[in-house]
Amino acid sequence: MRRKLVAGNWKMNTTLAEARALAGAVAAGVGASPSVDVAVCPPYPWLVPVADALKGSAVALGAQDVSAEPKGAFTGEVSPGMLLEAGCRYAIVGHSERRHVIGESDSLINHKVHAALEAGLHVILCMGETLAERDRGLMERVFQRQVYSALAGLTDEQFGRLVIAYEPVWAIGTGRTATPDQAQEAHAFVRARVASLYGEKIASGLPILYGGSVTPDTAAGLFAQPDVDGGLVGGASLKADGFLAIVRAVV
Ligand code: PGA
Repeated sequence: MRRKLVAGNWKMNTTLAEARALAGAVAAGVGASPSVDVAVCPPYPWLVPVADALKGSAVALGAQDVSAEPKGAFTGEVSPGMLLEAGCRYAIVGHSERRHVIGESDSLINHKVHAALEAGLHVILCMGETLAERDRGLMERVFQRQVYSALAGLTDEQFGRLVIAYEPVWAIGTGRTATPDQAQEAHAFVRARVASLYGEKIASGLPILYGGSVTPDTAAGLFAQPDVDGGLVGGASLKADGFLAIVRAVV
């Protein structure tokens, strides 16, 4: 059985006071031993205070990005070791906003995946097609490229700390959620690509989250799909009630 995960990606939102309050409310709502893993990913400067707010709870901390380098002259970057020391369990890598807005390449994303896993973090690797790629029938080619390039060279043990988030770019922040059938079709294809490249055992144990305009209303239908193992939630993770409703939709 694959363990389910719901992770909140707060992006560049919240004041420090809001971040503390949101983390506290999520921690209280999730309880001591949830049957699903839960994580929140605040902006970098709020990692340590949010770690404090989560102390003693079952909610894990994640970062929204990570450097591919361990230390040194990399202005503005934050290393995997720093994230671990700040209390992070997860790092999101290859989010579409970093691929398409900031311009991160497949090869940089592969380096970040390696650096984070080698340091001991768990990685939430994001992938997904743009609307133009979907309309031109290129989805499978895009998945093949993203799965192959991001995961090349991982050990079996490292695959055990990897989660994929399928996030169709056209669904992120648009209010246009993929249908459960669209999500299932994409997840099954991604899993099949992982199986053909890295083996059936790794593919069947790999959690694949859906992300892109998940709401309390759409979550249950998405999470009921056999290859959807939870969600990466942006906008709807900024309100504790809505996020907790999405967590309950997995259960
Ligand atoms: P959204 O963002 O839920 O606001 O669409 C999801 C994500 O970008 O991870």
